[in-house]
Amino acid sequence: MNILGIETSCDETAAAVVKDGRTVLSNVVYTQIPLHKPYGGVVPEIASRAHVEKISEVVNEAIAKFREVEPEGSIDAVAVTYGPGLSPALIVGLNAAKGLALSMGVPLFCINHIEAHLHTPFLNDVGDAPASAASIESRMPALALAISGGHTNWFELPEYGSYRLLGQTLDDAAGEAFDKAAKLLNLGYPGGPKIDAIAKAYRATFGDDSRRWKSSLEKFPKGCPREGVSALAGLPADMCVSFSGLKTALLRYVQKHQELLDPSPDEPRLEYKSGEEVTLEVARIVASYQEAIVEAVADRTRTALSRGSYRSFIIGGGVSLNSRLREKLKKTADRAHVEFLTAKPKYCGDNGAMIAALAYYRRNLTGEDALAADVCPSLEVM
Ligand code: KG4
Ligand code: ZN
Repeated sequence: MNILGIETSCDETAAAVVKDGRTVLSNVVYTQIPLHKPYGGVVPEIASRAHVEKISEVVNEAIAKFREVEPEGSIDAVAVTYGPGLSPALIVGLNAAKGLALSMGVPLFCINHIEAHLHTPFLNDVGDAPASAASIESRMPALALAISGGHTNWFELPEYGSYRLLGQTLDDAAGEAFDKAAKLLNLGYPGGPKIDAIAKAYRATFGDDSRRWKSSLEKFPKGCPREGVSALAGLPADMCVSFSGLKTALLRYVQKHQELLDPSPDEPRLEYKSGEEVTLEVARIVASYQEAIVEAVADRTRTALSRGSYRSFIIGGGVSLNSRLREKLKKTADRAHVEFLTAKPKYCGDNGAMIAALAYYRRNLTGEDALAADVCPSLEVM
């Protein structure tokens, strides 16, 4: 079964065709990052307009690329993200998908964006070794972490498609915490990839001496919420994180050390990417901030792994691209003898393949319900 997946929940206009929920036959992503960069974050109205301008082109390209792989193949269904996400952005994808499903005479499936991120480790490309196509059911029960610009949630999956929320952020999502720090330090948008690259380059200056690297870092709060806080809403405090204190700690640090934003010309510098540099002190602070987030996330993951009995640990979402987070979480899973499952980097950010793939297994809304559906900006995983 070939499903055309459409994704417009935030700042990527994306479409893909996926076979039987696993093999990606085509995948087209148009990113709006350059449009939002001047504002330091996603502007919903700009996102919506850009989706309207690009959606037909992106869908046509995904279908044309699919035809190159399967000239005689049919598209058997259309799947679309209907939440969570930005309402004016979601509306564009949902309406386009409704029109396509009706005109092609195929069913429409409405899909949860966060749940789709958690399916990405199971995506294969045409020609991948059969090992990567191992059964999904054999990986259950699983612990899963959805970590993106809008979410930081831990779930238990007793079986595929069944979710129990174990913990979450009480305020900012990890991606949001990265993006806000980058904005504060004038590093540009989106902050996550920049902070990752700077922190990596900073650590490399210590070679193999990880002890000296670690002791050079500034100690920022590790985001542990207090027991009894009402925002916990019944979840255990040691399975939740709070990044607002970390953000405030960074803000105070920057206010106290204005030279971070206004360095003297003879400050030592670090090139973290060809032609892009920061002062060594900014790099140290950025690396310390990233480490606080990574440690908080790894700590809650360790707690979850120690409390349950899991065959695998799945991570999905844009922040799962973070190199230090991947390294740390892989080690955490290895120590617990649990298989670590994450997507190929090209499927970590928002894309249509994850929507098409999940629709093969799980449909939040189908039939008349899908055709009549409205967007759900705060849709939860259940
Ligand atoms: O999943 P995603 O593409 O969109 C949402 O569903 O939110 O995630 C976007 C988030 C942004 O906050 C971005 O800064 C973050 O993922 N991100 C990263 C990295 N690459 C993207 N965060 C940390 N390290 C990265 N390498
Ligand atoms: Zn996402």
